[in-house]
Amino acid sequence: MRCLVTGVAGFIGSHLAEALLKAGYQITGIDCFTEYYSKELKKANLANLRQNRNFNFVEADLLHLDLKSILKKIDWVFHLSAQAGVRASWGKNFEIYIQNNILATQKLLEASKNVKLKGFVYASSSSVYGDTNTLPTPEEVYLQPVSPYGLTKLAGEHLCYLYHKNFDVPTVALRYFTVYGPRQRPDMAFHRFLKAALLGEPIEIYGDGKQTRDFTYISDIIDIHLAVMDHLHPGEVFNIGGGTQTHLNTVVDLISKITGKEIKIIYKPVQKGDVRHTAADITKAQNILGYKPKIKLPEGLEAEWEWIQTIYKKLRG
Ligand code: UGA
Repeated sequence: MRCLVTGVAGFIGSHLAEALLKAGYQITGIDCFTEYYSKELKKANLANLRQNRNFNFVEADLLHLDLKSILKKIDWVFHLSAQAGVRASWGKNFEIYIQNNILATQKLLEASKNVKLKGFVYASSSSVYGDTNTLPTPEEVYLQPVSPYGLTKLAGEHLCYLYHKNFDVPTVALRYFTVYGPRQRPDMAFHRFLKAALLGEPIEIYGDGKQTRDFTYISDIIDIHLAVMDHLHPGEVFNIGGGTQTHLNTVVDLISKITGKEIKIIYKPVQKGDVRHTAADITKAQNILGYKPKIKLPEGLEAEWEWIQTIYKKLRG
C-alpha cells in the first residue's frame, strides 16, 4: 500500500512518513520548502527518509502539481502541508494562508474525488476553537477562530467534510493541540526557548506567561494516525491533545531545570491571534480510536532538548 504525505519535510510530516515506512507502507512525500521554515532544518528532517528506497520525494507546490496522476497510485492521503503560524497570519500574509491552506486543500480533494482512496487524513488545529469558554473543549462547540490562520484551517476542515458528503472522499480531520518534540518547527515556543537556553540568549514571552496550552508530544500524534488507519470514521473530526493544560511559565521553569540554565525572560505584549487557553476534551478519540496520550511534558521536553543540542551542533558544523 502507498501513502501520500504532504508537508513531508516538516515536523509532523517527517515523523509520520518514518512511522509509515516502518509499518511497511510505501511513501510518496511532497514538500515545497517555503521561506517560512529554514531549509537546513527541513533537509535534516528528511535525511533518514531519503535513504529508504520505499520513499519517493517530490519537491513541488501542491498548487502546481498534476495531483490526479500522483493519486492514481495512492491508497492513503495524509494532508499535513500548510502555511503554519498563528501570529504571522495577519495583513498581507493572509494571501499565502489562503493559497496553501484553502486552495491547495481544495485542489487535493478535487483530485481525490474519483480515486478509490482508503482514507484522507487532514491535519487540523486547536486554533479552530478560538477563545472558547468550554475547557476542556469537545469537538461540537461553536467554532470561532481568533486568527486568520485558524480561519483557514477551519475552512480546510469544512472542505474535507463537503468532499466526504458529496463525493464520498473518506476524510477524517484531526485537531492537533500544540505539538512539540524533536524537529519542532523553529517558530514555535519550545524550539525558541530551548535554542535560547543553548545559546545563552533571553527568551520572549508574549503576555504574562499565564496562558495555557494542552501540549501534545509528537509520538502520541503519530500513533493516532496509525490508529485512524485501523478505525476509519469518514466525515469525523477528533481532538488530539496531550491530556494536561500547562502554563507557559511552568514550561519555562521546567526548561530551566532540564537544561540547567538560568532563563532570562523579556515580557512582550500579547500577540494578536493567540488564544488564551487550550485544553482538548479527548473523550471522542479515546472512545472511538482508543487514543491515550502516553508522553508527559518533562519527558517530552527532555527529548526535544536532546534534539536541539544535536541539531544545532550539526548545523553549525
Ligand atoms: C501551535 C502551532 O504553531 C500551530 O501551527 C498549531 O495549529 C497550533 O499550535 C495548534 O495546535 O492549534 P501555538 O499554540 O501558538 O500554535 O504554539 P506555540 O508557537 O508553541 O506557542 C505557544 C504559546 O507560547 C503561545 O501562547 C505563544 O504566544 C507563546 N510564545 C511563543 C511566546 O510567548 N514566545 C515565543 O517566542 C513563542
